[in-house]
Amino acid sequence: MPVVAFYSNEYSIELQNEWEKRLQVHYPSVKLVPLLSSQAENAQTALLWKAPLNRVKKLKNLKGLISLGQGVDHILKDNIIDSKIPVVRIVDPFMAKSMSHWVIMSVLNFIRDTFGYQTQQRNKIYKPRREINFITLKIAIYGIGAIGSVVAKDLNQLGFKVYGWSRTQKKIPGINCFIGKNKFKYLLESCDIHICLLPLTFETTNIFNNSSFKIMKHGSCFINAGRGEQVVEEHLIENCKSGHIAAAILDVYCKEPLPKKSKLWEQEKIRIWPHVAAETNPATAAKQIANAIKCIENGKIPPNTIERKLGY
Ligand code: NDP
Ligand code: OXD
Repeated sequence: MPVVAFYSNEYSIELQNEWEKRLQVHYPSVKLVPLLSSQAENAQTALLWKAPLNRVKKLKNLKGLISLGQGVDHILKDNIIDSKIPVVRIVDPFMAKSMSHWVIMSVLNFIRDTFGYQTQQRNKIYKPRREINFITLKIAIYGIGAIGSVVAKDLNQLGFKVYGWSRTQKKIPGINCFIGKNKFKYLLESCDIHICLLPLTFETTNIFNNSSFKIMKHGSCFINAGRGEQVVEEHLIENCKSGHIAAAILDVYCKEPLPKKSKLWEQEKIRIWPHVAAETNPATAAKQIANAIKCIENGKIPPNTIERKLGY
């Protein structure tokens, strides 16, 4: 019987049972046990979200790790886990669409000034506000992988001009795709809405800092659903306070849950979401996870195993 060590930072026995039930549809003999219990000691596979890595490291028979999300930074952080152990991530079209919906909502709220109208309603003001012309607007998406490419195509279908940035050159119909540092700068200075959907790696840490914000056009909108550590939060706050950045919509933070004392909460131009832009869905993700467990148990490399050298 394949035993999988299970951990989520929102652990409950109900959550574990739900995952077990979903996985058993595709792999009937699989059993989930809590990572922190003695039953996990002989597990060959671990299914994890933000787990205590020192505990994971102690699993002596470990042959593979599966992230309960599309990002793997929570497993790779601090290089605690042996680099020879395969790390698998979820790649779920459901999550890409969910993210696309959240990004579209954020873009539309910005260009139609939803929050301005909400304030007007509270003050019983019946007056049209400035609307941004979507024909001339340029949207940059930093990270056009499994998620970003879907977001890019969906925004383009809605009539927006979309620019994408990735590490390796992409060809996506309707999207202007770029690579490299110079083109990163070009997108910062020429686009009006900036959407970060990058994985957290050595190269993307703090990529949105004072110099990137300063290069952006006055009145730009910044949207982040990648990872908090890609943004120097203090610099974002400064640029929002000065009005250089007109709006920021955030789903991820350097520290999560966002501490009560964070200054981000108080910023008029910043909208806070609690890391919910695209949540993992057991119903749609179970099949690929069950397959990954089977592969690991059989000594095979599962699909969506990340490249450790790249960090994503
Ligand atoms: P992918 O690995 O499929 O795509 C990542 C993209 O980023 C690729 O286009 C990749 O380029 C690009 N990239 C990586 N490093 C660099 C770099 N140094 N310079 C330029 N481009 C780079 O990841 P996903 O699309 O599945 O997910 C992206 C991230 O979204 C996750 O890692 C996670 O942090 C976040 N996420 C957030 C969620 C939320 O609810 N807020 C939900 C799910 C994910 P290339 O194509 O050339 O490899
Ligand atoms: C993920 C996330 O990486 O939810 O899947 O952030």
